[in-house]
Amino acid sequence: MAERTAPVRHAVVPAAGWGTRFLPATKSVPKEMLPVVDRPAIDYIAREATSAGIDDMLIVTRSGKNSIESYFDAELGLEATLEKAHKDDYLELVRDYQNLARMHAVNQGHPLGLGHAVLQARAHVGDAPFAVLLPDDLMHPSSQLLRHMIQVRAALGGSVVALLRVTPEQATAYGSAAVAQVPVPAGVDLVDGEVLRLDRVVEKPPLEEVLSEYAVVGRYVFDPAVFDRLAGLKPGRGGEYQLTDAIAELIDVDPAQGGGVHGVVITERRFDTGDKLGYIEANVALALEDPDLGPGLRQFLMDELREA
Ligand code: G1P
Repeated sequence: MAERTAPVRHAVVPAAGWGTRFLPATKSVPKEMLPVVDRPAIDYIAREATSAGIDDMLIVTRSGKNSIESYFDAELGLEATLEKAHKDDYLELVRDYQNLARMHAVNQGHPLGLGHAVLQARAHVGDAPFAVLLPDDLMHPSSQLLRHMIQVRAALGGSVVALLRVTPEQATAYGSAAVAQVPVPAGVDLVDGEVLRLDRVVEKPPLEEVLSEYAVVGRYVFDPAVFDRLAGLKPGRGGEYQLTDAIAELIDVDPAQGGGVHGVVITERRFDTGDKLGYIEANVALALEDPDLGPGLRQFLMDELREA
């Protein structure tokens, strides 16, 4: 385990999937590189992590997805061309990765599930607390969720997950949690927010076994105690090594050993960009907020809807 107040400097981003729901685009473009308005999805993830105080990001990837790493690297030829042409605005965009958490990558090898993907971060993260961000969950750029989760970890120790209120039918597609309300601890600046203690969690339960209206979604802050649980996992739902099963074990670990799991309920806007409709919704919602694109898009949508 790590000291409760040890800073959360690392983010782990599982990104080794095939993106089958976005075929054929994902034949040659990683799903994480598909743009949402004008930036690839992975850029939003890096920005979110950076603004929560994280300065080191490990992408768990596979061969064939190298464009993710290239995105966070210098592009010297392009930079020289833009410099010569005095295109400073573009140059700033190309170099902006330097303001984000430093990027590292590790290959997952065999794709044996989310728990297996996170375990690949062990050597890099070591005995420190760390965040996991699933790139299919896109938080609104103004989101404070991860920062709040890190505050909850500093106050209560153990691990922290993001919880979303869902219908019982929706809950079958997520980790489903049994929870108890706890007071928002001092030092957590959640206005109207809720902090819950997890008592149980199961991965993608059938409808009759859904535990509550709370589903675990793609943001986590872990005590390094999770690594021993991940290393000892047996295959779970779908024959994969499930992160949810490791979280279930952490619930029963002594807090003095890094155990205990809390949840922060999401109140901010979130998009499921792993799904085609969610991806389009994210593009439309964020483009509507863009001062350059918003007015034209609003007009276009109104005209389209009138004609439909
Ligand atoms: C994964 C996790 C699941 C979690 C979900 C959040 O499932 O296994 O516990 O609720 O992410 O998006 P996936 O969507 O990768 O099947």
